Amino acid sequence: MKNQITTMKIQTLSGYIHEYQKSIINPEQFWSRIADEFYWKKPWSKTLKWNFDEPKIEWFVDGKLNITENILDRHLYTMKDKPAIIWEPNDPKEDNRVLTYKDLYEQVCQFSNAMKAQGVEKGDRVIIYMPMVPEAAIAMLACARIGAVHSVVFAGFSSSSLADRIDDCKAKMVLTSDGNFRGTKKIPVKDVVDEALEKTSSVEKVIVYKRTEQEVKWNDNVDLWWHDAIDGQSKECEAEEMDAEDLLFILYTSGSTGKPKGVVHTCGGYMVWTAFTFQNVFQYMQGDTYWCTADVGWITGHSYIVYGPLLSGATSLMFEGVPTWPDAGRFWEIVDKYQVNQFYTAPTAIRALQAHGLEPVKKHNLDSLKVIGTVGEPINEEAWNWYHTHIGKTNCPIVDTWWQTETGGIMISPLAGITPNKPSYATLPLPGIQPVIVDNDGNELKGNGVEGNLCIKFPWPGMLRTTYGDHDRCKQTYFSSFKGLYFTGDGVKRDHDGYYRILGRVDDVINVSGHRMGTAEVENAINEHPRVVESAVVGYPHDIKGQGIYAYVIADLSTRTEENLTNEIRDMVANIIGPIAKPDKIQIVPGLPKTRSGKIMRRILRKIAEGNTDNFGDTSTLLDPGVVEKIIKNRK
Ligand code: PRX
Repeated sequence: MKNQITTMKIQTLSGYIHEYQKSIINPEQFWSRIADEFYWKKPWSKTLKWNFDEPKIEWFVDGKLNITENILDRHLYTMKDKPAIIWEPNDPKEDNRVLTYKDLYEQVCQFSNAMKAQGVEKGDRVIIYMPMVPEAAIAMLACARIGAVHSVVFAGFSSSSLADRIDDCKAKMVLTSDGNFRGTKKIPVKDVVDEALEKTSSVEKVIVYKRTEQEVKWNDNVDLWWHDAIDGQSKECEAEEMDAEDLLFILYTSGSTGKPKGVVHTCGGYMVWTAFTFQNVFQYMQGDTYWCTADVGWITGHSYIVYGPLLSGATSLMFEGVPTWPDAGRFWEIVDKYQVNQFYTAPTAIRALQAHGLEPVKKHNLDSLKVIGTVGEPINEEAWNWYHTHIGKTNCPIVDTWWQTETGGIMISPLAGITPNKPSYATLPLPGIQPVIVDNDGNELKGNGVEGNLCIKFPWPGMLRTTYGDHDRCKQTYFSSFKGLYFTGDGVKRDHDGYYRILGRVDDVINVSGHRMGTAEVENAINEHPRVVESAVVGYPHDIKGQGIYAYVIADLSTRTEENLTNEIRDMVANIIGPIAKPDKIQIVPGLPKTRSGKIMRRILRKIAEGNTDNFGDTSTLLDPGVVEKIIKNRK
């Protein structure tokens, strides 16, 4: 077995340009060379088969592998004592934990055996609803080891959201904890799982990791403690042979219509893509300590806490807590404590910390930092400059990385220290990525100095393959808006230097603190309230969150005050989706601006929410123009 991952690492700007050209001229040759750096149980017979019409995308056809052999076994001999995961607990007074590659190997194997003993087999779906503890990563890797398909659900989602996901993928097992620490709070995670199980029928076993020691309800037929499950299990477990196109995981994400969909990633392509992008974007060097502040419940945690770094033999820091507890210097304290070299976070966290002023930053040195990164939403210039000046001390390149749950890994981003930065620009596409900009009629806008819809015209190894259980939805959502292209849902500008700046979503998806929310999803939750007649939800600019949620609601106020009703609506949304979906503003309105055919004119509602009430453009199709005046008068 090859011992060390050295996926092709670009080191200069001319090297980037050269490799990019090669990746476009002969993609199959380019990717087969990189894939060849990994350990395969059986080589692939064809590098790529694809069409974007069905769509059907296959990378490394007939290749057999197990991704965990590339994370664990291959690093066992060369770096067994190197820290793989460093874990910083919520409470700085609690002991931290360091898991070496050998520890990780043993603990993953042991938990793999524990799951097998409970009847989990290749192809079964396992839901992971856990706090940010190393066991969450162990759980993901153990699933991958035995060929089970993991689906991590962010532990802030409600029991209904969890139940929907369990049901959609017919999960056989749920992995969870008794509770979850977040700052001063203890969140009863196991209770949420219990509630979800009442609404679903596929789950046979729940394995519970003891974290907070809070009391939990217990059902002996279903529940099993993590420590009991691993007791006596061997620390060796043979890795299941997986086809390159077998499912690795499902991750649910919101779209503009309907319920969240299960984005499917497969074993071979995702492995190659996450390792390649991690090493090139962050320019990770052996010996560095890398920290991504995301939660493993999101794609960023999957690709850039767990898979990308660990495939690269990196030391990945995992933080359980929040940026503002015990104080707003917590991130910077951790950077100094572990001498973090690469730091990767979201613009919303930067803006929130910026609002606390410079005192919490000044107490810390931060001189270990070499690269700082952002992800999840457009970063405004002010936040970019603050990050650059006060955290990067003007000498750390910023990698503003644009990508999506569906893309599996970073797509457009500077390579740290190689691609010249420009504030608020994600800059240039990574090798293998062929972005095109099209107008609303699908005409390609060629050349520089253009703005339009961002599409990708050629497959890359880490792209989604389908949406779980509903391939047609995948086709409709991503491959039908513009023929022959993958449509991202984002608007983009390509400037005169050919640099890309992401402008935000052009569909009915809002991005709240870097979290994707479907407006229809929030509306459906609001409409569950018995006094609500109809609602319309839009995003509006928010200083910290990037976008806030503004809900216009038609409701019967005969039995409640407006304040009581809006509070009830907020609670309702938190119960149905989770606290992150709570509207920031709720306005009770007498009607909604609709066209004669009954379609809500969201464009107008967006403008009102933004406070831009002068120019609504063409309103001649409005059924009742008077309603707009009434809404403006009582704007929140
Ligand atoms: O609108 C883009 C925004 O986040 C969306 C993807 O969200 P999600 O699937 O939850 O993944 C987030 C983490 C990868 C995109 O469609 N987005 C992501 N990164 C950036 C961004 N917008 C601007 N700049 C970015 N760097």
